[in-house]
Amino acid sequence: MCGIIGYYGSRDPKQVIYDGLKKLEYRGYDSAGIAILDNGKLKRVRSAGKLIHLKEKLDNEKFTGNIGIGHTRWATHGVPNESNAHPHAVGKISLVHNGIIENYQEIKEYLLKEGAKITSDTDSELVAHLISREIEKGSTLKEALSTVIPKLEGAYSIAALSENEPDTLVAVKNGPPLVLGLGKDECFVASDAQAIITYTNKVIFIDDHEIVVAKKDKYQIYDMKGSAISKKITELDMSPDAIEKQGYPHFMKKEIYEQPRVVAAAMSPHIDVANLKISLQVVSSDSNGEALKQDELYSQLKHFERVFIVACGTSFYAGLTGEYILEAMAGIPVEVEFASEFRYRKPVIPKNSLVIVISQSGETADTLASLRMAKEKGAKTLSICNAKNSSIDREAFFKMYMKADAEIGVASTKALTATLALLNLLGVYLGRVNETLTRDEEKSYLRSLQALPSEIEKVLAYDSFFDEAALTLKDYKGFLYMGRGVNYPMAMEGALKLKELAYMHAEGYAAGEMKHGPIALIDDRMAVVVVAPTDDVYEKTVSNLEEVRARGGQIIAIGTGHNERLKSLAKHYLSLPKTSWNLNPVLSVIPLQLMAYHVADRLGFDVDQPRNLAKSVTVE
Ligand code: AGP
Repeated sequence: MCGIIGYYGSRDPKQVIYDGLKKLEYRGYDSAGIAILDNGKLKRVRSAGKLIHLKEKLDNEKFTGNIGIGHTRWATHGVPNESNAHPHAVGKISLVHNGIIENYQEIKEYLLKEGAKITSDTDSELVAHLISREIEKGSTLKEALSTVIPKLEGAYSIAALSENEPDTLVAVKNGPPLVLGLGKDECFVASDAQAIITYTNKVIFIDDHEIVVAKKDKYQIYDMKGSAISKKITELDMSPDAIEKQGYPHFMKKEIYEQPRVVAAAMSPHIDVANLKISLQVVSSDSNGEALKQDELYSQLKHFERVFIVACGTSFYAGLTGEYILEAMAGIPVEVEFASEFRYRKPVIPKNSLVIVISQSGETADTLASLRMAKEKGAKTLSICNAKNSSIDREAFFKMYMKADAEIGVASTKALTATLALLNLLGVYLGRVNETLTRDEEKSYLRSLQALPSEIEKVLAYDSFFDEAALTLKDYKGFLYMGRGVNYPMAMEGALKLKELAYMHAEGYAAGEMKHGPIALIDDRMAVVVVAPTDDVYEKTVSNLEEVRARGGQIIAIGTGHNERLKSLAKHYLSLPKTSWNLNPVLSVIPLQLMAYHVADRLGFDVDQPRNLAKSVTVE
């Protein structure tokens, strides 16, 4: 989960690469570095810690050259210090690497036997040694990579340059994402297009086992056998300002506030407003990027007898919410699993199964591996992604899009609520296909969905409440989040948010499980967040609340509208607008996002780049 970038052109490579690293920093921020061919000689500047420390060094450095590479690191092998920071340099070459070399131990032993001088604890430096040895034998950089790559096991995207070829950038992809950017007499390679969108919107998405050789005004892509291949140039419609804070203190705050617009944008293509009818827009691998016609989609989605939903982290909790929605609306059995479990547990995937994978980044290694396994087992696959042209988006058969624009905050917010909206639309669609929903029910659900953005607006008003409340909330010893039925997954998500942002112990639980153990945790230092909107499990949830109250638990209750009963039990009561049972998760997660955001901010933590995390987990 690092960010890599390379540049060759007539701009100042230090500026282009540093700007790019700033936009890649959300992928990992343990250390950073730049290497530039300075008057044809390799010159590196590296620093431990966040990019700002590299900038302090770069401000005192002058470079004469127009080709360079850069890296921002999420440490896998070796502590995040300067000597482990990329770019690594051996002999005449330097490289940056995103991924993990799994057979690094065996490579290290070989190199040590050969007398190599290894200066870091990283797997990446070993690759630099292997490449340098080939260059010393007279290979070009591309030839050297072609020789070395077959010796590597694991996942890697690498960009490299050599003093012998001062006009050439070389890169290879096998796992983590890589794009080639094409400008006017300039070229870029980067982990994702956000890093270079300021300079060009023309990109080529590199696939696994492909090598890029890029010069100022020409490039060639090769397969592993060395044959040249041609690939499509995509013109992106991404706007550079989508990756700026636009006046907000943090990307996460901006993204929390974008949710009304994002949820509306995610839904609008799928609702035929004039007829108040579902018109699900699903692209397929063979529909040339166009949405399938409704009759074609109907015939392709009608026969599924089982659905699996596979994802990680916040996307998993979206999927878990989807289980309740799809089963209730479409009468179809749904099984939800963490991707990291699914890919290794040898799941039984019956014929006529649809495997849905959810991924904001579209690059999560476990989710991608699960998608590939599902396809090998003959299942039809559907991806719900935010990143168009990401690996998961490209490899799934059916595709739907969160349309949430770039989500920079490591803690996922708007991608989640966009996904929940899409899962509701999918539920309504399958409900109509399976005739488990009447036309009136379809209309009712669509009306509730259309009202959702303005209801989210209302709930955002709790921002100022939590700004204040966080002053005391941050002092609790721990948090239990509880919910029942369709509200249970967002209790889990609320706990995840507090863990990943405020580094506090928080657990999400099915409210009915309290008496089976967790209630022993309750005392007056434990905060208990209960998601209890007025629905068919409300009464049961309130009785759990009374049990908690009787044991001194400090309750934060989230309910529907004006609710004296909840108010009497809770230290803090937050009211949600009345909505359909299946949309309470979308509304209840907003205060949970705001609470985690403000507690972390009050604790002085980096809300956008929490410690030890990265935005896209492209390694297992
Ligand atoms: C959520 O706040 C975390 N950043 C993390 O759990 C994330 O949801 C998970 O890594 C999955 O990412 P994806 O949606 O890009 O696959």
